Amino acid sequence: MYVLGIESTCDETGAAIVKDGRKILSNVVASSADIHVRYGGVFPELASRRHLEAIMPVVEEALEKASLLPEQIDLIAVAKGPGLIGSLLVGLQFAKGLSLAWNKPWIGVNHVEAHLYAAMMQAPEPISFPALGLVLSGGHTLLLKINAVGDYERIGTTVDDAIGEAFDKVATLLKLPYPGGPHVEALAKLGNPKAFPLTAGKVKKSPLDFSFSGLKTSVLYAMKGQNATEDRHLTDQEKRDLAASFQETALCDILDKAKLAAKMFPCRSIFLGGGVCNNERLRTLFAREFPHHNVHFPTFELTLDNGAMIAGLGYEKFLNNPVSSPFDLEAMTRIPIA
Ligand code: KG4
Ligand code: ZN
Repeated sequence: MYVLGIESTCDETGAAIVKDGRKILSNVVASSADIHVRYGGVFPELASRRHLEAIMPVVEEALEKASLLPEQIDLIAVAKGPGLIGSLLVGLQFAKGLSLAWNKPWIGVNHVEAHLYAAMMQAPEPISFPALGLVLSGGHTLLLKINAVGDYERIGTTVDDAIGEAFDKVATLLKLPYPGGPHVEALAKLGNPKAFPLTAGKVKKSPLDFSFSGLKTSVLYAMKGQNATEDRHLTDQEKRDLAASFQETALCDILDKAKLAAKMFPCRSIFLGGGVCNNERLRTLFAREFPHHNVHFPTFELTLDNGAMIAGLGYEKFLNNPVSSPFDLEAMTRIPIA
C-alpha cells in the first residue's frame, strides 16, 4: 500500500511516500525558516503563504522521487492539527482536493502523535507495550505511557514553555539565529556544562511535569543581571559555557523525569520523537542512562516536521479502520493526544 503523507502544521511543507507503513520511498521537506529568521520566530501569515507556493511542487517531487504516478497512491494522509490555523488549512484542503481529484481515500492524523509514531514505524516488530513515550518538540513536551498505538496516557507535560521553545528563546538571548536549537547545541559542544549552576523548574505535587521558563530566565539573568537591565558582555567562552549549562540542565531534567516515570510505570521500550531529538547530547544521555531499555529515537530525517511520519501513522490508522475521513473534518489548532 502506497501512502502519500502531507505535513503543513508550522513552517515546513512536507510530502512523503511510504510503502506499507514502513518503507520510505521519498520524504521531501521545504522549510520557510529563511523568512522567519528576521522575526526570531515563525510569522504565521508568511508561513501559510509559503505553504501555498510549496505544496504542489513538494507533492510532485515526492511522487517523482518515489517513481510513482497519482493512480498508484492508495491513501492520502495529512496532519489535521495541532498547529497554526493558516498553515494547517493549506495541507488539509490540499489533501481533500487530491482525494476528490484522484478518487482516493484520505485520513487526517494528529501531528504530535505522528512525532511519537516516527520512532515506532522504524522499530523492529513486534513492539512490546506498554512503553514510555516522550514528545520533545518546539510546541510540545509530553511524557506518555503508551499502551498501544493510539492509546496513550499523559503522565507529564510542561506547565509553561515547551523544551524546543526554551532552546529557541535561549538562542535568541544568545543572539543566535532561528530556529535556535541546533545553534545552542553547536555552541554547547564547546562549553563547560558545569560553569553556570542552573536548575530546571519543579512542579509542586507533579514530579513528572516540566517547567522551563525559570531556567530561561536564569539564562537572561546570567547575561543581564538580576534586574535584566545590565549588559554584562559575556566573553565568547562564557557564552559557550552558558549554552552548555542550559542544555545540560534542561536535558538532564528530561532524563531524570523519564527515569522516574520508568520506575513508576515499568516498561521495556522508550520511544522519543520531535525536533529536539536531533540533539546528540540527548541521544547520548538516554542511551547511557537506560542500558536495560530499548531506547528508540527516530532517524534524523524523521525528527523534525516531515510527511513520512504522517504517512506512517495514516497507514496504521487506516489499517485498523479503513474509512476515509469526512470532508467536513476541520483543521484543529489544538488536539490532545491523551
Ligand atoms: O518537531 P519540530 O519540528 O516542531 C514542532 O512540532 O514543534 O521541532 C522544532 C524544535 C525547535 O524548537 C528547534 O529549535 C528544536 O526542535 N531543535 C533542537 C535541535 N534541533 C531542532 N533543539 C535542541 N537541539 C537540537 N539539535
Ligand atoms: Zn512538529
